[in-house]
Amino acid sequence: MTSALNDSPFVRACRGQDVPHTPVWFMRQAGRSLPEYRKIREGIGMLESCRRPDLVTEITLQPVRRHNVDAAILFSDIVVPIAAAGVDLDIVAGTGPVVAEPIRTAADLERLRPITGEEVAFVGAAVRQLAGELGKTPLIGFAGAPFTLASYLIEGGPSRTYTRTKAMMYAEPALWHALLTRLSGITLAFLRTQIEAGVSAIQLFDSWAGALSETDYREFVLPHSAAVLGGLADAGIPRIHFGVGTAVLLGAMGEAGADVVGVDWRTPLDRATTLIGPAHAVQGNLDPAVLFAGREVVEREARRVLEQGRAAPGHVFNLGHGVLPETDPDALTRLVEFVHVTSQR
Ligand code: CP3
Repeated sequence: MTSALNDSPFVRACRGQDVPHTPVWFMRQAGRSLPEYRKIREGIGMLESCRRPDLVTEITLQPVRRHNVDAAILFSDIVVPIAAAGVDLDIVAGTGPVVAEPIRTAADLERLRPITGEEVAFVGAAVRQLAGELGKTPLIGFAGAPFTLASYLIEGGPSRTYTRTKAMMYAEPALWHALLTRLSGITLAFLRTQIEAGVSAIQLFDSWAGALSETDYREFVLPHSAAVLGGLADAGIPRIHFGVGTAVLLGAMGEAGADVVGVDWRTPLDRATTLIGPAHAVQGNLDPAVLFAGREVVEREARRVLEQGRAAPGHVFNLGHGVLPETDPDALTRLVEFVHVTSQR
């Protein structure tokens, strides 16, 4: 990492160092809220667009140009490495990832091959191109965590109850751990490819881990997420770990090996810091729906998030989950400006 990146407000906040202002970026900042994104994606499938470095570069840069955010996040999807591992899947508009033949038996597991990283060389190419264009703005790489990936593979698509996922976890723990071990290896290879190509931080998305109790999370999930996060410790870049509905899991998610714990909008950041402990910075957590409530409400709520974030050793401002597709992009631009001005030290 160059010294400019190492000294960027985003990287410094992740490390709990002092910053000129609270850094801000948004999960899903590159996406459907932007007209320029909708235009460039016309007629191009989601997975195909993730495999074209020129397109990935342009889409990743769009929100940086528009909003003046403190970090870019690579445009991709959590199922990209799963497809590269041999699983037949598609990303269906309005639904999300759909797996043609779900993985439910030991024989099915054969269809999820280990990867070395060469299978996702297009991601490395995009990151190198982006690192050149972004200059002193850090680029965040990311991957889905083993549990969230497993839920798509076992259910075959999105789920509300995670019934089959939990049934495998409880009834066939050996198969479960074999599947999550395979997934943690694939995730590590995917993240290492991004790190070798020059990302300044990574975020591990365990978006759906909030479906679990703390006891089950610790037994069935934490060791596999820890294998990923711990396996990247030598890279020396900040590791962010995020999930939705994880109030009871925040402490355990920090223990899994994150430097920064991402918090959804349900838990105030000062309370989150009490749960996570003083060794970790936090990221979050304005409710994405607040952006539909008008400027005064946005500013009031953003001020509250900034105040509660002061309880942590470091705070990266974000939403409590991704930008909703119907969000007015100008409201996001104004929010970045408000966070920068209000948090000036
Ligand atoms: O948001 C957009 O419009 C961008 C394009 C897009 C992405 N994924 C990019 C992405 C689309 C349409 C998808 C499909 C998809 N994949 C969905 C949404 C279904 C829909 O139509 O609403 C979902 C839920 C997935 C699976 C997925 N991808 C998960 C659970 C996550 C983790 C983050 C989260 O939202 O909980 C991803 C990561 C992801 N997909 C990112 C991007 C650009 C990276 C992270 C980010 O920018 O925050």
